[in-house]
Amino acid sequence: MIEIFNLKNVISIKDFSKEDINYILDEAKKLEKVAKSQAISNDLNGKILGMMFFEPSTRTKLSFETAMKRLSGACVGFDSVSSSSMEKGESIADTAKMLESYCDGLVIRHELEGVSQFISEIVNIPVINAGDGAGQHPTQTLLDLYTMREEFGHIENLNVALVGDLKYGRTVHSLAYALGLYNVNMTFVSPNELRMPKEILRDLEKNNIKYKENTDLNDVIDDIDVLYDTRIQKERFPDVEEYLKIKDAYLINKKMLEGKDLIVMHPLPRINEIDYDVDDTKHNRYFKQAFNAVPVRMAILKNLILNNKKFED
Ligand code: NCD
Repeated sequence: MIEIFNLKNVISIKDFSKEDINYILDEAKKLEKVAKSQAISNDLNGKILGMMFFEPSTRTKLSFETAMKRLSGACVGFDSVSSSSMEKGESIADTAKMLESYCDGLVIRHELEGVSQFISEIVNIPVINAGDGAGQHPTQTLLDLYTMREEFGHIENLNVALVGDLKYGRTVHSLAYALGLYNVNMTFVSPNELRMPKEILRDLEKNNIKYKENTDLNDVIDDIDVLYDTRIQKERFPDVEEYLKIKDAYLINKKMLEGKDLIVMHPLPRINEIDYDVDDTKHNRYFKQAFNAVPVRMAILKNLILNNKKFED
């Protein structure tokens, strides 16, 4: 049985040590063949994953489902309040307890920060946070790190720019903490209105993690290995006028990348951040990144579900 990875839930990347992260990335690598359907695995045969999705999702939901099925497990769940009994007024707590008795793990996406933490405290099966509002998206971070490690062979000392909506984007919140563990040179590039939250900057400073901030991508584009772009999170703006003012803040295109030696990553969906003409260049890693969700989520599911025997406590 696996000894090194002993997290019961995946709620925040802050709960991970560097060893935990490296362990999951190594495990993911071993599962690549299964993820690509070049090998068969029965690791999660007979196990069921519950999916509670209260916000739209394409990659996260489908890659969790794919991961579970590639390991011979199965999924049940819903993707909106309106398709569950919460539409009739049932509480989220009752809904989660129900699913606890059907499933071996729960994946939750919700617009409120802290919901998956709350659910993890009332059920006795592993809970995975698949995005809680503008909070965290820890499994996205693991696949982002995997993508970087696959590309460069290491994460340490890379020059990474996190670009776009750093205020509301949960992927960059989790990623900033994780990159901090690897001595990465981080630059946060955003309009002033969408800077990385102070609380995160303070946490980084407390841990002596260095970072730079900039509003102009042109200032940094020559010095980076990874341009991690993000969508402006329209749905989290209190005022749509504010969104309209900055929605096209950074549009990356092929011309801007000419002569540069960097990869472009993006958690997707892209709206107006990456021109389609970048897709056929050597810089595009966003689709590879989307595929990497499968082996990485397989590794997470396998370790969480097999390490946490249901009804054990
Ligand atoms: C992200 C999310 O939901 O936070 N998408 C994803 O999970 N790949 C990014 C986004 O919606 O902009």
